[in-house]
Amino acid sequence: MTQSISGFTLPSTAPGDRLHRILASALDRSKEQETLDLTQPLYWPAEYFGLNQVTLFQQASAEEQATILAIANQDLLTEIYWVEQAGVGYMAKMVLLAETCEERILYSLFAADEAQHLCQIEQFFQQKPEFNQDSFLSFMGQLLESNDKALLLTMVQVVLEGWGLSHYRSLASHCQNDRLTATLQSFLAAEARHHATGVQQLQTWQYDQASLDHIHQALREFLHMVQVGPQRLVKAVEQGRGYLSPAIADKSLLN
Ligand SMILES: [Fe+2]
Ligand SMILES: [Fe+2]
Repeated sequence: MTQSISGFTLPSTAPGDRLHRILASALDRSKEQETLDLTQPLYWPAEYFGLNQVTLFQQASAEEQATILAIANQDLLTEIYWVEQAGVGYMAKMVLLAETCEERILYSLFAADEAQHLCQIEQFFQQKPEFNQDSFLSFMGQLLESNDKALLLTMVQVVLEGWGLSHYRSLASHCQNDRLTATLQSFLAAEARHHATGVQQLQTWQYDQASLDHIHQALREFLHMVQVGPQRLVKAVEQGRGYLSPAIADKSLLN
């Protein structure tokens, strides 16, 4: 994969590396006292995923249900991690594409917001999550490589961050862990600013035909993904219950 803005393939520095100490001090980690219990990280219940209404889940043994739920939880948290990782790269790119001093400053501050979010979410993992390409992340990774600013503003800040805002709000309100709920709620003000900036900038934008075509194409792809449904959840059920033929998966989960 040649995508670099998203940071999906960036390696981490070794655990004892000096950068970690400087990073901890830059993040003011000294203020965080309580250690997180990561042994049973079931942050969202079956109802949040709609699994309680899925026959395959209802018929699963308690052990299978626990496996499915644990995977669904981990997938959701991992997705947040990679979205925030991509956010850092996106905002950094927008710093370089800025056309005014204010825009440059704003995107620098936004890059710091996303870096903070990334580090806060990282605390909920015992080790850095593995990157597993799925259609949503690969769509976002490809999008971020574009140099069409109108496409970036529309798709990332208006569509994805607008959707992300309500997604985070819903994740926070259904989360069963107070610390994660507070963390997600603390993202909302910044995400609302990122979204509003995109909306604002596009209000006076002079779109050219090429940009309109790119936006049209990206929206089609995005809506197609929405239509196809929760593929990761299907995989989680499959890992708990064994192989699901496309027909069974469709019938059980996607309707
Ligand atoms: Fe963020
Ligand atoms: Fe954001």
